[in-house]
Amino acid sequence: MAAFVELELLQLSPFVIFAALLVISLLTLNSLLTKNVKYPPIIKGWIPWLGCAIEFGKAPLTFIKETSEKHGKVFTFYAVGQRMTFLTDVRDFHLFFNSPQADFQRAVEDAVKNTAGINKEDFFANHRKIHDLVKGRLSSSNLSKLTPNVGRKLEEYVRNARISGSEVDLMTLARDVVFTAVVPILFGEGILPQTHQELKHFQKQFVQFDDSFEHGAKLPDFLLKEWAKSKYFFLDVFGKALQKKTHANMDDTLLQAMVKSLEGDCAPNYATLLLWASLANAVPITFWTLAFVLSDQAIKKDLQQEVDQVLGPYIDSGSLAGLSLEEVKKLHKVEHCILEAIRLRPAGMIARKLTGPMQVRDLTIPAGDMLMISPYWAHQDETIFPDAKSYVPDRWNQTVGSDKSAPSDKFFAFGGGRFQCPGRRFAMMEIQMFVSVLLCSFDLELVKEEVPLPSPQHVVGVPHPLSPCFVKMHKRVRII
Ligand code: HEM
Repeated sequence: MAAFVELELLQLSPFVIFAALLVISLLTLNSLLTKNVKYPPIIKGWIPWLGCAIEFGKAPLTFIKETSEKHGKVFTFYAVGQRMTFLTDVRDFHLFFNSPQADFQRAVEDAVKNTAGINKEDFFANHRKIHDLVKGRLSSSNLSKLTPNVGRKLEEYVRNARISGSEVDLMTLARDVVFTAVVPILFGEGILPQTHQELKHFQKQFVQFDDSFEHGAKLPDFLLKEWAKSKYFFLDVFGKALQKKTHANMDDTLLQAMVKSLEGDCAPNYATLLLWASLANAVPITFWTLAFVLSDQAIKKDLQQEVDQVLGPYIDSGSLAGLSLEEVKKLHKVEHCILEAIRLRPAGMIARKLTGPMQVRDLTIPAGDMLMISPYWAHQDETIFPDAKSYVPDRWNQTVGSDKSAPSDKFFAFGGGRFQCPGRRFAMMEIQMFVSVLLCSFDLELVKEEVPLPSPQHVVGVPHPLSPCFVKMHKRVRII
């Protein structure tokens, strides 16, 4: 028997030897090919598959900063089975924005599916077209049509504002103003509910949706029940409004234009995503601008003088609806204050997915990695923005009514490349109007002098304040 087995093995041996030789030559070839390939340092974490998910999830902004200090300008880490590679030197950011293999759509396709229920087929059929449509409708040449409408809505807001002299949460105030002025203009008059109570419910659902958006982008609905309810709330709002278009009075809105050009049955889903994109950053930037301005008496006084001069006559005569884009562009100091707030509080990170390997200096980043940059930390670079941690609106003095894609080539708050934020020009115009109308119409005073810290948790989009920030609010008596 033993002799038989031996014989069998001997008979197989040519095949075994051939297979072994093949494996050895393939390994040798692979090692020759990859001999000179250098990869970024990899931080795998302690727990397989989970990787660094826990440390990263606890305080992502701090994690990015500390890991970069320890491991260098380019590093890779594992989190929940995903490899993420961060570029932290702004000199490498052009690769992130402009390389064909750094793909925006592949980076967001799962998030789009989870947060708005848009399947991949519908996403790829529509995304490019919808991006261009939003960009066109909110481009500089179309803004002049929207300015009077924002003015009219702000006038209504000021007229109806319930001012009791009591303390108001500044984030709630920012949200109230942005919702009241923007949602009817971009989505139609009938989208926002009319009663105070229903409006509060609408905003509460938005806060819920926005607060857990980052988790909702990755986790299934059953793990985030309250968040999922808010998602279905908006899908339902838009589903019903689009069924009876005339009631929502959507003529000539961005929503109507988008619905007309969409392929497939996903209009309420795209509308939900667009609602989020149009409010999620504009609300906290309105908040941060006001908080920074109110915390510095000299800046506040300077701004009041400018807004009184430009907007005073319109506010006194109740004719904000007659305000032109040219007039808004005269609010230079307000513009600089907004740019500086955006510089200090941009998104914690933005992503692309690598569809092919990418060379960054002497390092190779493999295909399939999520490629990340942090606008937040890039804007804290002292070599680019001296005294980077301080709020210094004057550093934008040379930037007047810029129509360029960004006020500086080292300003990443609106992203960059083919899919840079398509609402950026509208965002600047609307926030300029909100801040100016509020400062011209009300006396706002911070209850506590200091500006709250940004939450280190919120990294997709503009960070929210870590603690509430209250202001005392009175109707303003202007000395003419
Ligand atoms: C200060 C306010 C805003 C900031 C800081 C901001 C920032 C950003 C950033 C960083 C991105 C990702 C870009 C990239 O990855 O390269 C983005 C995308 C986007 N933003 Fe904004 N945004 C703001 C306001 C707005 C407004 C007001 C709208 C619409 C009215 C808007 C619509 C969008 C849309 C639709 C996208 C996704 C683009 C796509 O899928 O192709 N944003 N924004």
